[in-house]
Amino acid sequence: MLIKSIKLTNFRNHKSYELNCKPTTTLILGENGCGKTSVLEAIYILTQGKSFRATDPDIIKRDTDYYLIELEYDTGEKIVASYDKKAKIFKVEDKKTRRLSNKHKYPIILFLPSDLNLVSGAPSRHRDYFDRFFSVLSPEYQTALNKYNKALLQRNKLLKDEYLNEAAVFPWNVMLSKNGVILNNLRQKFIEEINQTMTSTYRSIAENDDEVEVKYSTETPNLTENEYLNLLEKNYEKDRILTHTSFGVHRDDFEFIFNKKPADGSASRGETRSIILALKFIEAKIIAEKLNKKPIILLDDVFSELDNKRRKCLINNFKNHQVIITSVEKFTNSRSNH
Ligand SMILES: Nc1ncnc2c1ncn2[C@@H]1O[C@H](COP(=O)(O)OP(=O)(O)O)[C@@H](O)[C@H]1O
Ligand SMILES: [Mg+2]
Repeated sequence: MLIKSIKLTNFRNHKSYELNCKPTTTLILGENGCGKTSVLEAIYILTQGKSFRATDPDIIKRDTDYYLIELEYDTGEKIVASYDKKAKIFKVEDKKTRRLSNKHKYPIILFLPSDLNLVSGAPSRHRDYFDRFFSVLSPEYQTALNKYNKALLQRNKLLKDEYLNEAAVFPWNVMLSKNGVILNNLRQKFIEEINQTMTSTYRSIAENDDEVEVKYSTETPNLTENEYLNLLEKNYEKDRILTHTSFGVHRDDFEFIFNKKPADGSASRGETRSIILALKFIEAKIIAEKLNKKPIILLDDVFSELDNKRRKCLINNFKNHQVIITSVEKFTNSRSNH
């Protein structure tokens, strides 16, 4: 499926904006602050169900009462989302829902400038990145992650209560172990899949024979639900003192390994950029294969961060996808040159 058009009303700085998208590459050009990333954000909401950078109260145009965004696919399917400070509503084929159903989501590969710093980023950034990727890949992952995060929030809230009785955390312990084990297993599986082509994809970009892999580190490898639950219970007293949950998959990390050493500190700036490009290419490939849908590529201002060789690589790799690019400057390596 391809995006035909996107319309924004009272969305961020846009009072009224419309973009007709080409089946190949669409370029959104403009000065910093003119609202380019916001257009990608609207596309993201209408394809994924929520923003990648904020919640609705931040998004609604200041001093207005509602926002409305509308997306039309080339198939004629229309998805509308609105928010009026009370409720967010999605409308698909005249049916209204609070959430965008999986059936009406469409895979997106989002490439933000901040992704280029992922290699040296904190574990929480790595987790956010792979959580987003794996949630697109697998509804089971997404559901487990939502449930896990909900349970974690509730358990941490209780741990701050002075008069807490241990029995009150039990249901949350159960929910954490059940979904923690699911996340653990899927993370392991998906990382193995990524690593199958990580080095070869990297080499196709960098044209050398370096080795790259993503290392999944977890304190909870291969645990059963019961083992996970026991460990949570064993940690109860410690968690009471810390007033948060100190054990579980919310502390996992995904590290980049370059020639057997942590890439953070050993790979150069250019090499880390190639690593991220390779990751994006693999992301698109795995998503296309698993979901049998060609993901739409959103490139937010990344061209200014890349040299010519890597720009070319990016364009070439995604030449069979619909690509929407934002940029401050016009660049010369457009697809028409290939
Ligand atoms: N809720 C809002 N209401 C009005 N303006 C906003 C709101 N949120 C952000 N902005 C402004 O919208 C502009 C567009 O942001 P953004 O889409 O990130 O621009 P760009 O990607 O072109 O640099 C920024 O100047 C920002 O200050
Ligand atoms: Mg921007």
